Amino acid sequence: MSQAAALARELTSRGLITDPAWHRAVLAVPRERFVPQTVWMPSRDGSGWREPLPKTHQRVGEAIDGDYAIVTQTDDGAPTGTDGRGWLATSSISQPSLVLAMLQALDVCDSDRVLEIGTGTGWNTALLCQRLTDANVTSIELDREVAEAARAVLETQGYKPTLVIGDGAAGAAEHAPFDRVLATVAAHEVPPAWVEQTRPGGVIVTPWCTWFSPGVLLRLVVAEDGSASGRFVGPAPFMMLRAQRSASPLGDWQDFVDEDAPGVEEGRTATNPRWIAHRDDGWRLVVGHLVPGVDFASFEASDNSGEASVYVYDRGTASGSWALGEYSPEETTWETKVRGPRDLWAEIGRAWEAWQAAGRPGRERLGLSVTADGRQVLWADTPATPFGRQRRHLRCAGTPACSYTGVPGGWCAGLVARHTSTCGGVPAFRSWAGMRPAPAPRSGRGCSA
Ligand SMILES: C[S@@+](CC[C@H](N)C(=O)[O-])C[C@H]1O[C@@H](n2cnc3c(N)ncnc32)[C@H](O)[C@@H]1O
Repeated sequence: MSQAAALARELTSRGLITDPAWHRAVLAVPRERFVPQTVWMPSRDGSGWREPLPKTHQRVGEAIDGDYAIVTQTDDGAPTGTDGRGWLATSSISQPSLVLAMLQALDVCDSDRVLEIGTGTGWNTALLCQRLTDANVTSIELDREVAEAARAVLETQGYKPTLVIGDGAAGAAEHAPFDRVLATVAAHEVPPAWVEQTRPGGVIVTPWCTWFSPGVLLRLVVAEDGSASGRFVGPAPFMMLRAQRSASPLGDWQDFVDEDAPGVEEGRTATNPRWIAHRDDGWRLVVGHLVPGVDFASFEASDNSGEASVYVYDRGTASGSWALGEYSPEETTWETKVRGPRDLWAEIGRAWEAWQAAGRPGRERLGLSVTADGRQVLWADTPATPFGRQRRHLRCAGTPACSYTGVPGGWCAGLVARHTSTCGGVPAFRSWAGMRPAPAPRSGRGCSA
């Protein structure tokens, strides 16, 4: 049995392909041909680095045969390890079950014109061509080398879609309008161009995430008024649109928190420091959206008192803000230390209240709207019941001070490295660089982050 046939059978028998047209497409496109000669597998030493392995290696063969994403590029093509290893996965051939979930979520008709963002290896592009014909498929890839490799293998497999090399966040206006937009790369902020270039009634499927919550699959339907709205329809862990990567993907809490820095203020908060760690997937989406960039580290007391030192810090937007909450089960307000322009405990408290008021919705009850002027609004149950304030889109670039964080240049300033070039008057976004590690948590407390 061919690998394509084995894959189609596996996905169908697991109930992951329910549309026979996509079953036929998977059968017709040999996925293994789209895997390049060298791929990047996790190093066995557990360090997090990735090492290059030839396609012929047994580990790679097992990955190709299984339901796995395979990393095909690290560090934007310039591996950063001194020993030739790479760190950040920047291109891949996606996990088959997730690819099929996304294609089926598109809900295409035979004649639909589709824009794909993130050509990658071209496998997903080939499936679209097989299903909809070359003439109906446009695919954009930012990385020229990746794009050229995809073009070559697509051609050898007999597919000639419209391939564009460029920033998929801008869409492909010259080929619009589209009936469907499919991103195979994740967004924190749905680019307005995707909505603008989709016809009313058309569908956008994209992985979406906050810095705090794992990726979810967002399915939006575009309305006549130029807005789009829809629900999170499943999990979708994906690499980010290059321009929306975290300004600081690496580093732990100590890279963001310095208790000896000038300007640290002591006080108390009514926000329970334990709330941030609540594991409900709906809560994580809500707090990640309403408190952009937030992350935390928690250190339990070793004496079974239930006390903990909880640090929250702004990993994503470069405001330099952090806060410490000293949790004790005996108290109803808690000691804090805070630094920076954002009051993170207050933001987290407001997010918690909003989530409670909505009835603690899980992911299934949540959805997102993109307004006609590009704002993102998270809601529970219907767009008529939004959470908190509406976040500004990246288009707020150049505002003298962000309406959300009060940081000059807007919270977009730290959101996007490359965005700084269009964000007038933005401070250096790596504002945490040079911070000293924070001291160990209070004496008598064991560290169990
Ligand atoms: C997960 S891979 C795509 C996988 C592909 N669909 C496949 O199965 O082979 C994501 C791709 O998006 C590309 N990418 C990242 N940011 C982009 C952007 N702003 N515009 C277009 N492509 C982008 C990356 O270079 C990478 O090749």
